Order: sequence, then structure tokens, then C-alpha cells
Amino acid sequence: MKKISIIGSGTMGNGIAHCFAQEGFEVSLIDISKENLKNAEIKISKNLDRMIKKDILSPAQKKEILSRIYFYNKMERGVKNSDLVIEAATESKDIKLKIFKELDSLCKPQAILASNTSSISISEIALATNRPKKVIGMHFMNPVPIMKLVEVITGKNTSKETFEVIMNLSEKLKKVPVLVNDAPGFVANRILMPMLNEAILTLEQKVSGVNEIDTVMILGMSHPMGPLFLADFIGLDICLSILNVMHAGFKNEKYKPCKLLIDMVNNNELGIKSGQGFYDYSKGVKNKKIANRFL
Ligand SMILES: NC(=O)c1ccc[n+]([C@@H]2O[C@H](COP(=O)([O-])OP(=O)(O)OC[C@H]3O[C@@H](n4cnc5c(N)ncnc54)[C@H](O)[C@@H]3O)[C@@H](O)[C@H]2O)c1
Repeated sequence: MKKISIIGSGTMGNGIAHCFAQEGFEVSLIDISKENLKNAEIKISKNLDRMIKKDILSPAQKKEILSRIYFYNKMERGVKNSDLVIEAATESKDIKLKIFKELDSLCKPQAILASNTSSISISEIALATNRPKKVIGMHFMNPVPIMKLVEVITGKNTSKETFEVIMNLSEKLKKVPVLVNDAPGFVANRILMPMLNEAILTLEQKVSGVNEIDTVMILGMSHPMGPLFLADFIGLDICLSILNVMHAGFKNEKYKPCKLLIDMVNNNELGIKSGQGFYDYSKGVKNKKIANRFL
């Protein structure tokens, strides 16, 4: 494995690109949005600066890492000769099926195609290609350069060889891969999302306020961050998509997204990435304030 391509340069894509480039791989980062590609370049550079400040990297290493990342607006050029493509585009089944169909026709036959999907069936994504043995889930956690876990999801047809290559590769990235079978939400989001949804419902029913709900879970349950801030951090659109996939997949009301979450997504209050969620990020993430509508 030498050349890795990543589809989607948003919250997850830029972090995945950062990690592979840091471990010496040549990386292509591909996005349909030129603006998002530019933002990804800035974000990777800032994250590397933070590592320099902490004495983890030298400025020369930063330069080397950045020199290994190439940015593309068109998939065709970006995936040429890639050994592995990791799709980290918007959490929508239609978008992902279309991307995998295209990847299958553009990539060399030996290439492995992975998805960073949080909830969508890997077996179903694999059927959009003519190489289901070489399709697998590689679910990184946010923020990718910091979080150690990768859920490795095998679809019905994923081969043992593909699985082993991806487990070894995850270890080379200094991550800890965990085998998970293909089920809506896999393990991480199946457990996490009902809790985030319940926290949002608790706010919707005015049981308590934003800061109070987050404080209860931080001080009462020793969570490192409150569920409402975590939802802003993940992206409320991503949370909604994951809950919708689990609600439809399990046909169980316990995964039904609450009204406040749906309303906020419709209002483009997506959390950190749109500048507004349960908190207001217009003055930056560190200076976040509780969004006025919840005061
Ligand atoms: N946000 C999280 O905490 C998190 C954690 C783990 C996994 N994921 C998963 O990772 C994936 C990406 O999530 P994100 O939070 O980075 O989303 P995001 O909204 O931050 O970024 C998605 C990017 O994909 C791009 N895109 C959309 N369609 C495309 C296409 N056809 N070709 C190329 N680029 C395209 C968009 O322009 C955007 O830049 C989703 O499947 C999500 O479920 C997210």
C-alpha cells in the first residue's frame, strides 16, 4: 500500500488524510467542493502546527507531511493508481452508492474500496461494485489524528485477505482496529446515538438547559464532553442521518430522531461546521456560547 485516496475532505476526510500522510503514505484528497478542499488544507496545516507546539513534530516534518497530500476536485485524476480508496463523503446512501459505482470503474482492479460510513450497510455499498470481496468499512473516530479506534466492518462478501490488509494497515497508522459485523450503526453509533438523541429530547421537553444537560453528563457520568457539545462536534446532520438509518434498519422507535434535531438540521444549525448548534461558534470553538434560542 503506497497511494491512498480519500473521497470527501470534510470533518473526517481531512483527518484521515493527515494520519496517512504523517505515516509516510502518498495521499490524494478529493472533494466536489473546492471551498471544502481549501478549508481542509488550512485545517490540516493548523492541526500540524498544534503538534509542533506540543513538540510532537518539527516544522521540517510538517513540510514533508503536507508535501505528501495532493488535492483534487475530480475523482478520475485523484484515484488513478491508488491502492486503497477511503470514502468519507456525506452520510447518504444514494451519494455513497453512486461514488462506489464510479470508483469501481475508475480504480485499478486490485484496489481496495473502503467506506468511513457511520451506519450504512457495507454489504449494500459493496453490491454497487463488481468487487464486493474488496469492499470493507473503515470507521474512523472524530478527531481522527487523536482518536485511536477504527471499527473495521466486514460485509457479507468481504474477503479474509481484504480484512487482514486493512487490520494491518490500521495498525501501521498507530490505530487500534476492532472487528465489527455489518449492522445498522455498527457498535459505536448504535450505543452513542440513542444517548445523544435522548439528550436532545431532554432539552426539547425543557427538562433542563444546554449547559445543565452537558454538566450532568460531564460531572455525573465522567464523560469528557457533554452530549450536546458532542452532537455539535460530530455534526447534527450526520447524527440525524445515522439515526434515520438505524430507525429504518431496526424498525424500532427507540432510534427515531427527535423533532428538535430535525428542526435544527432544517434550519442549517449543524453544530461547529455551520457555526451554530446547541452552542454558538461564531467566535470560535473555544469561546463557544450557548445558542441564544436556548437561553
Ligand atoms: N462527523 C463525525 O464525527 C463522523 C465520525 C465518524 C464517521 N463519520 C462519517 O464520515 C463521513 C463523512 O462525514 P463528515 O462528518 O466528514 O461530513 P462533512 O459534511 O464534514 O463532509 C463531507 C464532505 O463530502 C463531500 N462530498 C459530498 N459528496 C461528494 C462526492 N460525490 N464526491 C466527493 N466529495 C463529496 C462534501 O463536499 C463534504 O466536504 C460520513 O459517512 C459520516 O457518517 C463522521
